[in-house]
Amino acid sequence: MSQRPSGPLDAGAVLGWGVPTMRDLPWRAERDPWRILVSEVMLQQTQVERVIPKWNAFLAAFPTPADCATASLGDVLRLWQGLGYPRRARNLQAAAVVVVDLHGGQLPDDLDDLLALPGIGPYTARAVLAFAFERDVAVVDTNIARILARTAGERLTPKRAQERADEAVPSGQGWVWNQVVMDLGATLCRPTPTCTPCPLAGSCDWHLAGHPHPDPATGSAGVSGKQARFEGSDRQARGKVLSAVGAEARPAAHFDERIIAGLVADGLVIVSNDTVCLPE
Ligand code: ADE
Repeated sequence: MSQRPSGPLDAGAVLGWGVPTMRDLPWRAERDPWRILVSEVMLQQTQVERVIPKWNAFLAAFPTPADCATASLGDVLRLWQGLGYPRRARNLQAAAVVVVDLHGGQLPDDLDDLLALPGIGPYTARAVLAFAFERDVAVVDTNIARILARTAGERLTPKRAQERADEAVPSGQGWVWNQVVMDLGATLCRPTPTCTPCPLAGSCDWHLAGHPHPDPATGSAGVSGKQARFEGSDRQARGKVLSAVGAEARPAAHFDERIIAGLVADGLVIVSNDTVCLPE
């Protein structure tokens, strides 16, 4: 892969901005791949402040992949309570089972092996490589994808976004680079950006062009749109069912039939004798 001495993003400026102010997050003190994986799966759709206590509780219960693999799905889902998107918990446990069965209980230090785990996509696989194994790979989450598109001044395809991100990683600094670029996207290069203090303001195509419409981040690879409304959503209704049946089995008639059918189809609840419960 082409590795220019200074990549498409000004690494010196970005590290100079980000290293002194790097957010102090508990998983940043960790290199254990399982602990990193759990943090990354939780952080995919849930904000940092809500993740921290859940991450601590989950790892207290399941300190290794084997502990998670051998638990009941119901116990895994109970510990996921409040994070939302419970299919992530089911997939994480399925991944733990494969780690135990195929990798001796240790997460593999290899992109293809990580990508082969249930529920683990390009972002999560690279996050484990960068943050646990300190490999020089580039992660592209929604925040970083915005930076890549805006600095390039154009919407990117998935291939171009990953290439541009890979070229930007300063050699030997994959861990700190990815953390700092993530902070840049989370704090300054927001959907509505704050450009004046940005270390890339002097080299960002979109900024230098005077922020023309449309924002190149809109529709660019890896940039997610606004989250759908939660109030009144199926997601909210599903959360309420899981929370209720997490405490004790409940009559199916108490809930919306369609919501229960969806949860059954996802393997997240069981209905027997007109009663709904978590899978044990
Ligand atoms: N979101 C996903 N991974 C993260 C990390 N390592 N630090 C902060 N936010 C994140």
